[in-house]
Amino acid sequence: MKTLAEAYKDDCKIGVALSAESVQSHAGLVSAQFNSITCENEMKFQRIHPAQDEYNFEPADKIYRFAVEHGIPLRGHTFVWHQEIPHWLVRRPDGTPATREDMLAHLREHMETLMHRYGRNTWCWDVVNEAVYDESSLPQNRYNALLRRDPWTDLVGEDYVEQAFRMAEHIAPNAQLIYNEYAVYDPAKCDRIYTLVKGLLDRGVKVDGIGMQGHWSVMGPDLDALRRSIDRLASLKLPLQITEMDLSLYPDAGGPSNPDTPYDHFPAELLEQQAARYEQYFSLLREYRGLFSCVTFWGAADDVSWLNYWPLRGRCNQPLLFDRNQQPKEAFYRVLAAAGVKA
Ligand code: GLA
Repeated sequence: MKTLAEAYKDDCKIGVALSAESVQSHAGLVSAQFNSITCENEMKFQRIHPAQDEYNFEPADKIYRFAVEHGIPLRGHTFVWHQEIPHWLVRRPDGTPATREDMLAHLREHMETLMHRYGRNTWCWDVVNEAVYDESSLPQNRYNALLRRDPWTDLVGEDYVEQAFRMAEHIAPNAQLIYNEYAVYDPAKCDRIYTLVKGLLDRGVKVDGIGMQGHWSVMGPDLDALRRSIDRLASLKLPLQITEMDLSLYPDAGGPSNPDTPYDHFPAELLEQQAARYEQYFSLLREYRGLFSCVTFWGAADDVSWLNYWPLRGRCNQPLLFDRNQQPKEAFYRVLAAAGVKA
């Protein structure tokens, strides 16, 4: 039977996010099915660089070593983000806020360290993640209609995205540099992303692609909404990626949910609905052949999905293509079917 990577070899890479644990527990599945790997959390600023003079490389190294041994390249994730920011980065030792110069110097040193250590087997980097504001990030940034208000805007300033991309290019001129964002299907948000990236490109900043996170659900997003967003971003003439894909079985992946339903016996129709959705999304992506360079699943199998812990700890979810025993689900076969491959 063909694997995901084989079925899509003429379309795009098929990636997976791994933790330092799942890289071991799901090693066989990963090496068989996928041809790109993201560290789920292990390269995030706070995790890998918890103190100014201290790096915690071991968890990311484990994933990196596995990737090298199996000839699978990494997606670097992520340098600049509004979460996982270590305290030392935003406060000086005397407790006063870090200055713009402090922040930029620390960011440069951080990027240099990671790009030099992991760059040889890394095919692209999420340089900035989730900079654009939306309703969930209110109160809105009061200076700028595009960016969320966070320590980067507050301490570095409105040009921090540009600074980060310029720095990354300076450190690794040949690296592929990606802007990554969620809820791109939302038209207003998609407009802001378009405006941000267009502004960067117009100012001569090297941006090599846009990552659309795919934390979606069996209910949506609607295919037409997605198509409109893809068309809008494609007009920037940059490759796109689906960077973090999973289809929650709950109607709303992120919103309020009922804590009284920690069930793991989902009705068969719901899993069928999920399989059908996966097929529709992959068929849509195939309409854009050549535009998408990679689709990354956010986890190898249902047992290690972050959605078992978020938004409610312990509420079971089954959002991926492989079940808790690492066996292919109906959704897996339908993703193959979207590529014209019969199981
Ligand atoms: C965001 C981040 C990811 C991850 C997910 C949830 O999408 O980009 O790194 O933290 O949230 O797991």
